[in-house]
Amino acid sequence: MPGLDHELEEEMKQFDETKAGVKGLVDSGVTKLPRMFKHPPEDLPSLNHNNGISNLQVPVIDLEDVEDSETRSKIINDLRKAAEEWGFFQIVNHSVPVGVMDDVLKGIRRFHEQPQEAKEVWYSRDFTKKVNFVSNAEFKVSLPACWRDTLSCKVLEDEHNFEAIPEICRAEIKEYMRYLVQLKDKLSKLISEALGLTSDYLDNLRCFESRSLACHYYPVCPEPHLTLGGHKHSDLGFITLLLRASEGLQLLHQNVWIDVQPVEGALLANVSDMLQIITNGKFKSAEHRVVLPPTLEPLTSIACFIGTDDLQKLYGPLKELISENNPPIYKEVVFGEYVKRYKL
Ligand code: OGA
Ligand code: NI
Repeated sequence: MPGLDHELEEEMKQFDETKAGVKGLVDSGVTKLPRMFKHPPEDLPSLNHNNGISNLQVPVIDLEDVEDSETRSKIINDLRKAAEEWGFFQIVNHSVPVGVMDDVLKGIRRFHEQPQEAKEVWYSRDFTKKVNFVSNAEFKVSLPACWRDTLSCKVLEDEHNFEAIPEICRAEIKEYMRYLVQLKDKLSKLISEALGLTSDYLDNLRCFESRSLACHYYPVCPEPHLTLGGHKHSDLGFITLLLRASEGLQLLHQNVWIDVQPVEGALLANVSDMLQIITNGKFKSAEHRVVLPPTLEPLTSIACFIGTDDLQKLYGPLKELISENNPPIYKEVVFGEYVKRYKL
C-alpha cells in the first residue's frame, strides 16, 4: 500500500502482540510517549482551549420527584432544551446509588490492574465475542493510538450473559446494570415525551433495548499533553450513559471544546447518532473526546451504549416530527449497516 508507514505499523503490531495494552507499557517503565500515541498538535487541546468560556456548564437534569406531574413537565422541558442545544446532560437523583457506582469503577480498575497473565486471556479483536479486552479497538495506521485500554461487554440483555464477564468485576457490573436498566427505561419515556410523543413511543420502536459497556482505563501517562485518551467522535446508538468521576471529558459545543466538570454523584448522558437521525436533527449527537488531565492516578470510566437489538430494523426521521416545513434531512438506515460503517 503506497504511503504506508511501515515503522509505525510495526510498532502497533508489536504493541498489540503484547496483549498487555497501555497498562503493560506503563508497567514496563516507559518514560517517553511512544510514537504511535503521538497526536498532531491540531488535534490536541491548546493550553487555552476554552477561550474564556469555561464557565459554560453542561445542563443538569434533576430526576427527583419525576412522577409528580408538575415536576415532570419541568424535567421534560429541561431535557428537551439540553438535548437540542447540547446533546449532553448530567443527571442527578437518578436512583443509582453512589456506592454501586463507586464499586463498579473500582471493579473496572481491578480488572485492568490484575496481573498480565490473568488479563491477556481476554485480549481479542474478535468483536463478535460477548467480552473483549483490547487497547484501541479502532487501530489504524492512519490514526494515532489513544492512551487507554478497554474492557467491552456486549449483549447484557440476558442475565445468563453476565457469566461471560470476568469474575473480578462481574458482581459489580451486574449490580450497576440492574440500576442502569431502570434509569434507561425512565429516560426512554422522558425523551419520548420531550419529543411530544406518547411515553411508550421509543420503547415500541425498540430504541432503548440493547446495552453494551465500554469500561475504560486511562493509565498515568508520562507525556499527557501529547496524546489523547479518546479521539473526537460521536456515539452510534440512541443514547449513552457515562459514568466517570474525573476530569478529562470534553465536548464540542458551538465549535468550542468545553471541559465537562464532574458533578458529584451524577451520571452523564449524551444523545447519540441514531437519536439525532430519528428526531430529524432536533436532538444533537454531540462530539466529544477524552484528554488526559495531569494526574498521578489512573482514571476509569464506563460508557453504556443503548440501542436496538434488531440489527435489521430501519430507522429514519419519525413521521410525527417531519412536515412540509421540516422535511426529512436523513435517509432511513438499517441499524446493523450503520454499526458496520461507524468509525471512531
Ligand atoms: C466512549 C466515550 C468517554 C470516557 O466510550 O464512547 O466517549 O469518558 N468515553 O471514557
Ligand atoms: Ni463516546
